[in-house]
Amino acid sequence: PLVSMTDMLNKAVEGKYAVGQFNLNNLEFTQAILQAAEEEQSPVILGVSEGAGRYMGGFKTVVNIVKGLIEDYQITVPVAIHLDHGSSFEKCVEAIYAGFTSVMIDGSHLPLEENIALTKRVVDVAHALGISVEAELGRIGGQEDDLIVDDAEAAYAIPAECDQLVRETGVDCFAPALGSVHGPYKGEPNLGFDRMEQVQKLTGVPLVLHGGTGIPTKDIQRAISLGTAKINVNTESQMTSAATVRKVLEENPNLYDPRKYLGPARETIKETVKGKMREFGSSNKA
Ligand code: G3H
Ligand code: ZN
Repeated sequence: PLVSMTDMLNKAVEGKYAVGQFNLNNLEFTQAILQAAEEEQSPVILGVSEGAGRYMGGFKTVVNIVKGLIEDYQITVPVAIHLDHGSSFEKCVEAIYAGFTSVMIDGSHLPLEENIALTKRVVDVAHALGISVEAELGRIGGQEDDLIVDDAEAAYAIPAECDQLVRETGVDCFAPALGSVHGPYKGEPNLGFDRMEQVQKLTGVPLVLHGGTGIPTKDIQRAISLGTAKINVNTESQMTSAATVRKVLEENPNLYDPRKYLGPARETIKETVKGKMREFGSSNKA
């Protein structure tokens, strides 16, 4: 069933595991992620960036594809459709109107007071409709779609500011930027675990770790032990599926039926996602 993130994240905090947000890019990603969740009996969050939403046809199309697959695949595990890095109040409302069950409002580029005001506006509308909200403070580096943050702009969240934002907005979960990066890491990630612990203690809400691709298992486990209940992964599924398409086409230069190269790519995505669900501990937690 389609649900907000609230229940699944609260349960994850309690059970000391994290629910994966896996980003949609097209039909095959959507199929693979839903199948992975059902086979693993794991709750799942489908992340939709504004760019991916546009690519797939629009928010309504995304919701209809997801609803269609839930029915056809007889999906029984909890599924949330979540706007990833929502850029404005209007985009969040558009996603909610289209049927999303959760939104992120990313005001991380704004001064604190403006980020709080914007996030609060979104929370007021979303909560009236039973939709969960995620906010961000500090700036997560790297690139995801239109969102590009270079090294100089990337900033660690300040715990006292996180506390203020969460308290004044009432968000359901919170993403403090603590050194994680969108896309591949240059070298080993250097996550701010001390601050993560402080932020968790101060805010008391489930924490979100963006840039899940390329974080070593020991860091994933440590983050979960410090209250991280949601981990976002996109690039890794993109990379493994692209490698499969490349291999299939190289091995079969005369192949042209998209089902013959996107089908195997879909299998790769499914295996990647299942591996993450096991690593995050969300398997058999539906
Ligand atoms: O919001 C989406 C994620 O943070 C994805 O990060 O592409 O590095 O896995 P990633
Ligand atoms: Zn992100």
